Amino acid sequence: MRHFLSLYDFTKEEILEIIELGAKIKKEAKLKNYIPYLQHQSLGMLFEKSSTRTRISFEVGIHQLGGQGLFLSSNDLQLGRGEPMKDSARVISRMVDMVMIRTFSQKILDEFAEFSKVPVINGLTDKYHPIQLLADYLTMKEYGKDKNPVVAYVGDGNNMTHSWMMLAAKLGFELRVATPKGYEPLQEIVDDAKELCKLSGGVVKYYNHPKEAVKDCDVVTTDTWVSMGQEEEKEERIKAFDGYIIDKAMMSLAKDDAIFLHCLPAYRDYEVSEEILEKYADIVFDEAENRLHAQKGLMVWLDEQRKKSG
Ligand code: CP
Ligand code: NVA
Repeated sequence: MRHFLSLYDFTKEEILEIIELGAKIKKEAKLKNYIPYLQHQSLGMLFEKSSTRTRISFEVGIHQLGGQGLFLSSNDLQLGRGEPMKDSARVISRMVDMVMIRTFSQKILDEFAEFSKVPVINGLTDKYHPIQLLADYLTMKEYGKDKNPVVAYVGDGNNMTHSWMMLAAKLGFELRVATPKGYEPLQEIVDDAKELCKLSGGVVKYYNHPKEAVKDCDVVTTDTWVSMGQEEEKEERIKAFDGYIIDKAMMSLAKDDAIFLHCLPAYRDYEVSEEILEKYADIVFDEAENRLHAQKGLMVWLDEQRKKSG
């Protein structure tokens, strides 16, 4: 049985297969042809952090696939009163067919998966946000940016950065990561990406000057400077990220036909200017919608794998 905890565990072919399946299901859904690939199945959606896109896309997604989603907030579960994660995993996974978790450390997610009887999906941890990258790559494909792209990620070395690094290292494209000093990605992920790039032909480059990273690239992307759980660091982070905003001047350094992506929520006039977000709104909100389609592909794919493994 396969889980979806990190892109590290997936081959290039598998990642592309999941995204293709998402694209196919998207086409069907656009014709209002909702095929019940997961009829009568239940998806447990366990949240220890806030969410708009992840919650709605999974809940609507499983419904469109013929199943039902259960929104499980840790505040309302016995988990929030101290029931161990491994016990919660053993209970929840006996009653549902798949679980999505948004939590803090990757260790919590790994522990849940270890004790789960059903596939577990990473709905964001402090380390990775891999489902977002399925939607981001689907969007790149739709906008013709999937052929040897050069992608610049500008901002905090966080769960989104780590996920972009894994995607580039697995699929074999060039990623330039620009972060202020002290906000670089985790060294273990830098090392993993380096090893994976040797196999894929990808390259991940690191910068402390965003303008160098953005120069002549095909895709520019960023994320909030203050991730969930870092609210107390807000003031110092805003100072540290001075010069990292994606504004008209920064975007003009990329190729003329470059696109801008943002996983959202966006904090206007911090990591991205109002002007740039609105200029690329069609793409950014397609990206948000693609969460729904890509994750339907993922859920169907995981179910197929489970059936194959008996
Ligand atoms: N991009 C993303 O995961 O959004 P939510 O936090 O709203 O789920
Ligand atoms: N890096 C952000 C992503 C939100 C979707 C966070 O973890 O809060």
